[in-house]
Amino acid sequence: MANLLATKPLEMILDESAEGGEHSLKRTLGATNLITLGIGAIIGAGIFVLTGAAAAQYAGPAIVLSFVLAGIACAFAGLCYSEFAALIPIAGSAYTYGYATLGEIFAWIIGWDLILEYAFGAATVASGWSGYVNSFLQDYGIHLPPSLTATPGTDMVMYNNRWERLATIVPTLKAHGVDPSALTHVHGSFNLIAFLGIVAVTVILIIGIQESANFNSAIVIIKVAIVLTFIAIAGGFILKHPDIAARNWHPFIPPNTGEFGHYGLSGIARGAAVIFFAYIGFDAVSTAAQEAKRPQRDMPIGILGSLVICTILYILVAGLLTGVVSYTTLNVPDPVAVGIDHTGVRWGSILVKLGAIAGLSSVMLVMLLGQSRVFYSMSRDGLLPKWAGAVHPRFRTPWISSITVGIFVAIFAALIPIGILGELVSIGTLLAFVIVCAGVWILRVRRPDLARPFKTPWVPFVPIMGILVAGLMMVSLPLDTWLRLIIWLAIGMVIYFGYGRHHSRVQAAVSARKTP
Ligand code: ALA
Repeated sequence: MANLLATKPLEMILDESAEGGEHSLKRTLGATNLITLGIGAIIGAGIFVLTGAAAAQYAGPAIVLSFVLAGIACAFAGLCYSEFAALIPIAGSAYTYGYATLGEIFAWIIGWDLILEYAFGAATVASGWSGYVNSFLQDYGIHLPPSLTATPGTDMVMYNNRWERLATIVPTLKAHGVDPSALTHVHGSFNLIAFLGIVAVTVILIIGIQESANFNSAIVIIKVAIVLTFIAIAGGFILKHPDIAARNWHPFIPPNTGEFGHYGLSGIARGAAVIFFAYIGFDAVSTAAQEAKRPQRDMPIGILGSLVICTILYILVAGLLTGVVSYTTLNVPDPVAVGIDHTGVRWGSILVKLGAIAGLSSVMLVMLLGQSRVFYSMSRDGLLPKWAGAVHPRFRTPWISSITVGIFVAIFAALIPIGILGELVSIGTLLAFVIVCAGVWILRVRRPDLARPFKTPWVPFVPIMGILVAGLMMVSLPLDTWLRLIIWLAIGMVIYFGYGRHHSRVQAAVSARKTP
């Protein structure tokens, strides 16, 4: 049992991170690259899609407070990630931190959990992305076969000369007195658009980290510009029509309906748990630590900088959106486009759709980047086969793991419904947050001597708060999601006991020390 808890000596980890040569990753990313990498992963389906439903169903205009709450929760975890990422600047992120502090079995669990976060995260966003691409194509009269635009079983109907998912247009049909059974129905079989989106992103990733970072930076500029345009247009509208905004913002916290989570204070909390997805991604910055030029200084800047910028943008967007239109009308797949339509700026909704298409593609990119880097670290430690860490001699990227991951993720995105994917990602991410926060605290106790380039303030208060808040959000997720997490972790255990344990470099070092 003891060796399952073998830790990887920090000195060994730091030596590895200093290694060069053609089997290592290239150190090319500066502070600005890292902030853009973070924003690239953060702004996505959460703000462009989920905000509307969360405001309409749970929090009302107080969705702004949900964003503040979820932002504070992420700040606790962000501070802990920063301490580790500066101290252990290696591609494995939380997996490596776990190896150094809690022991191999925990490191494996975290690594396997991070694979869940990033692989299923990319698949979730690909699914949302395909919805925007399909809607945009239909705006221009291009209709793909509906069965190839949705996951198996999704009910698609032809309405107003467009193929729509029945579940999302039921309220519209009701409002217009249309009987859904009178419409032509087709069932989805394979979401080809999501599949192709992941394939394209995988190709960019294989070509190179700098190319990926450049692609990401270009997209981040576009998506931040579009978010700022929304803020300017909606802000201008509200300044001209303060009466409309005052009406929409009143009551700011709609009274609870009597059911937990439906408006009132509990609605703000449930809204926070839903839009938590919008913040996921800042942690992915830490997976690029081994490709950062000056990780000690730049990792905290990248992680915390991207988190702060996105929190401010989210609060502004949510506040203005609920001022421009009544929250009751926001339960739609494209709430930001609906908001801008209300201001009367006609080109606005096309712009928002384009922004979402571009924006979501960079989320997929950074998630898959993180995923292949975690594989790379696990394989170098012997817990996964060597091929998973093989670096391409010319591109210097972990190409075999990128291709393998890309194929699986593309298939998940094409076959699994977005709701199931999204909740799995949230629970997986929250579990990683809990472990990272605990790890910071444990390492402070065990190795107070280490020179930490960045120190999380108020330890143990911040880690404890991080654990409590993330734990509470996990508890608020449905039982099914817990079961899926447990099944995923059980599959991981089979691989660990079947392969990783026998090939682990750390285990080999432990037994070598025991044998005289
Ligand atoms: N935060 C990312 C998004 O909202 C995952 O799409």
